[in-house]
Amino acid sequence: MDSSSLLLLAPIVTILLLRAVSASALVRSQNVTCHPVDSAALYRFQKSLGTPIGNWGAPNSVCCSWTGISCSSLGGVSMQERVVRLDLSGRELAGQLCDSLAGLDRLVFLNLSGNQLSGFLPPKLFQMQSLEVLDLSRNQFSGHFPLNASMPAVRVIDVSDNQLVGSIATTICESSTNLQSLSMARNSFHGKFPASFTNCSDLRYLSLEENNLSGNLPESLFQLQHLHQLLLQGNIFSGTLSRGAGNLSNLIEIDISSNYFSGEIPDIFEGTSNLRRFSASMNNFSGYLPYSLANSPSLEMLDLDKNSIKGGINLNCSSMTRLSVLILGSNLLQGEIPQNLSSCRRLTVLNLSNNNFSGSVPSSFQDLGELSALSLSRTRLNDLPGALQTLQHCKSLNSLILSRAFRGEALPGDNDGLSFENIYVFVIANSQLTGAVPSWLRRSRSLSLLDLSWNRLSGGIPQWEGGFKFLFYLDLSNNSLSGNIPESLTRLPRFINYNASSLGPLSSIPLLLGNGSGRHFQYNEYWNLPSTLALSYNNLNGPILPSFGNLTSLQVLDLGHNNLSGGIPGSLCGMKSLEALYLCNNHLQGTIPDSLAQLTFLSALDVSYNDLSGEVPTGGQLSTFPGSSFEGNEGLCGGATLNPCSQENHQAAKAKSVGESFPLLPLAIEVGGAVGFVVTTGICFASGWINRE
Ligand SMILES: *[C@@H]1O[C@H](CO)[C@@H](O)[C@H](O)[C@H]1NC(C)=O
Ligand SMILES: *[C@@H]1O[C@H](CO)[C@@H](O)[C@H](O)[C@H]1NC(C)=O
Ligand SMILES: *[C@@H]1O[C@H](CO)[C@@H](O)[C@H](O)[C@H]1NC(C)=O
Ligand SMILES: *[C@@H]1O[C@H](CO)[C@@H](O)[C@H](O)[C@H]1NC(C)=O
Ligand SMILES: *[C@@H]1O[C@H](CO)[C@@H](O)[C@H](O)[C@H]1NC(C)=O
Ligand SMILES: *[C@@H]1O[C@H](CO)[C@@H](O)[C@H](O)[C@H]1NC(C)=O
Ligand SMILES: *[C@@H]1O[C@H](CO)[C@@H](O)[C@H](O)[C@H]1NC(C)=O
Ligand SMILES: *[C@@H]1O[C@H](CO)[C@@H](O)[C@H](O)[C@H]1NC(C)=O
Ligand SMILES: *[C@@H]1O[C@H](CO)[C@@H](O)[C@H](O)[C@H]1NC(C)=O
Ligand SMILES: *[C@@H]1O[C@H](CO)[C@@H](O)[C@H](O)[C@H]1NC(C)=O
Ligand SMILES: *[C@@H]1O[C@H](CO)[C@@H](O)[C@H](O)[C@H]1NC(C)=O
Ligand SMILES: *[C@@H]1O[C@H](CO)[C@@H](O)[C@H](O)[C@H]1NC(C)=O
Repeated sequence: MDSSSLLLLAPIVTILLLRAVSASALVRSQNVTCHPVDSAALYRFQKSLGTPIGNWGAPNSVCCSWTGISCSSLGGVSMQERVVRLDLSGRELAGQLCDSLAGLDRLVFLNLSGNQLSGFLPPKLFQMQSLEVLDLSRNQFSGHFPLNASMPAVRVIDVSDNQLVGSIATTICESSTNLQSLSMARNSFHGKFPASFTNCSDLRYLSLEENNLSGNLPESLFQLQHLHQLLLQGNIFSGTLSRGAGNLSNLIEIDISSNYFSGEIPDIFEGTSNLRRFSASMNNFSGYLPYSLANSPSLEMLDLDKNSIKGGINLNCSSMTRLSVLILGSNLLQGEIPQNLSSCRRLTVLNLSNNNFSGSVPSSFQDLGELSALSLSRTRLNDLPGALQTLQHCKSLNSLILSRAFRGEALPGDNDGLSFENIYVFVIANSQLTGAVPSWLRRSRSLSLLDLSWNRLSGGIPQWEGGFKFLFYLDLSNNSLSGNIPESLTRLPRFINYNASSLGPLSSIPLLLGNGSGRHFQYNEYWNLPSTLALSYNNLNGPILPSFGNLTSLQVLDLGHNNLSGGIPGSLCGMKSLEALYLCNNHLQGTIPDSLAQLTFLSALDVSYNDLSGEVPTGGQLSTFPGSSFEGNEGLCGGATLNPCSQENHQAAKAKSVGESFPLLPLAIEVGGAVGFVVTTGICFASGWINRE
């Protein structure tokens, strides 16, 4: 038969095959019944839960067709099949598990992950002889992990993301030599790392992160030859990292960040030739970067953020050909950034912030074509014009953070022809820079977040007409800017209509921007920041434009400590999303418009130290603010002011000292550990959220 006639026959053969299959399935469904032992166990399990499960019914012979159940004849001739798989993951099941599931004595696979199951883990579940996969993760189980566990067939156990407590010193490894994957992450386990885990000699994946485990890591851990991933971050482990770790030749990822490890990182990684990710951030490692890590051909990510590593950056890029993420922030590194660091061509994320680096940004950095996020803040680097000239050639650069470096230099002006076409996040704050707000930024069409706060920039705010489709966070506060607030700012599309579902370019920014991990781990999710316009502490004058009322998506408006005059426009009530409004320390006159009571999300207001007069409106949120929000306005009366409204209320209470009991910024902004809004009493609004002390 030639091949063309084979092709012709193929559909017919397929149809015949399908007929045969469906005929046999029919026979099966009519004849085969589920074993009464299984059906009874399942029925009792269902009864113990509060919630009904899919099409489950009374105990009967059809239980093999119930939702989530698979049966098998297990090779026997019996017409009664046994339940071998039960997958009820993500079905919003609530209630408690009882021992009855253990009655499914032929069960091989049990997945109850992603429900709201609570109560204790039934010990009998951990004695099931056939069970190979047990996934109870992402529930609300409490109590202990059964210490007396014996599951000879088990390969996968996952109890992560529950509320389990106590020790993990289970006997599981004595009977379960096939265990390959054990995850107990994100519970509240405490106590030491059990030496008994050595007996799980086939273990490949061990995930204990985000618990309260403590003490040294036992040497026996490093006999687990097959380990691929060892995740211990976010515990309180201490001691040194043993040389034994170098024996784990199959290791692909080790994460010991956010613990209390100390001492030097041993130079043992020449044997771990598959190691791709090494994370040890937020420990107290000291000494130098070990040679074997700095020459690793396999390493893709090296994160030693927040340790006490000293010396220079001695990476050998000739051998580190895969390095993509390098995070060495907050260490004791010093010297110049080597020119040849740019030979690590795959670098996408580079964070060297908060080290004692000096010199300038190597011009060779322009060759880092994949570099997407760079932070060089809190260093002693200089030559900002040179750095910007170089970095503008990094065409993938999305996020550039250069705060607290280049101290006192001048921000290059328009004549330098700078252009950062793909930048989303541009932050040079806290550097006492002189010069003007760069109008060359108008070429950055994707700019989403701009922070130039705490410098000495002067001149006006550029019109930036028609650009910045994505800008939702603009902080120019604490400079010496003058002139009027340009009306174009009240036409920025993202302030007018911020659709959280369309994140724009920010959604693709690399998430891994340092901060390691830990129980309070927060990604630097820029788009979680409130939509903000901060222009405080400048010399801006002129009125607050009525068109601000068009900014229905703006959440924080901070115009305090300027020379603004005129009235508070009643149209501001159009800022439906506004949560914080700071107009303090200006020369505003007239009354507080009643319409502001319509700002239902407003949780911080400060109009203190102006020339406002009349009665403080009392409706809505306005009644909730303390007197300090209004003080320093001689003509204001009523509300929370100390000054009751009488016919003649010129006897305004004498203003108290500035900033007393200023309401804390109520927004939940968590940009990781040390970064975040710094709200102190005494200033109207603290901006410059990134990389500040
Ligand atoms: C299985 O079902 C078919 C069709 O209903 C019937 O002919 C056959 O006798 C049954 N076999 C058994 C063993 O019950
Ligand atoms: C259990 O089900 C969840 C959700 O369907 C799935 O993500 C997970 O991988 C399953 N667990 C196992 C061990 O197969
Ligand atoms: C542990 O479980 C086994 C098997 O169920 C049982 O024989 C043994 O007595 C248990 N030991 C303890 C200390 O509970
Ligand atoms: C860890 O232990 C500390 C002190 O015992 C306790 O305050 C903390 O709540 C524990 N954390 C967890 C996640 O169990
Ligand atoms: C490993 O298991 C055996 C029993 O199977 C036991 O004697 C030994 O102590 C265990 N090793 C550790 C380190 O727990
Ligand atoms: C690591 O391997 C070396 C050489 O094979 C051996 O001497 C040492 O005992 C091993 N260390 C551990 C903790 O297994
Ligand atoms: C970190 O280690 C240094 C010595 O290397 C020590 O002086 C310092 O106290 C340690 N810090 C913490 C927080 O343990
Ligand atoms: C990179 O340059 C430094 C000196 O700046 C030198 O010590 C090092 O060997 C160079 N590395 C490579 C891989 O060329
Ligand atoms: C850097 O790596 C290359 C390639 O592996 C190697 O030939 C060279 O000796 C290394 N340089 C240093 C200074 O170790
Ligand atoms: C860089 O590292 C520093 C500290 O080491 C950290 O505070 C900062 O958030 C990181 N920067 C970025 C952009 O992730
Ligand atoms: C930073 O490095 C310089 C030398 O470049 C040194 O004089 C200074 O003491 C270092 N500062 C710190 C805090 O280590
Ligand atoms: C913006 O506000 C001004 C003044 O309140 C108003 O005249 C104008 O029509 C508004 N523009 C838009 C697009 O809503």
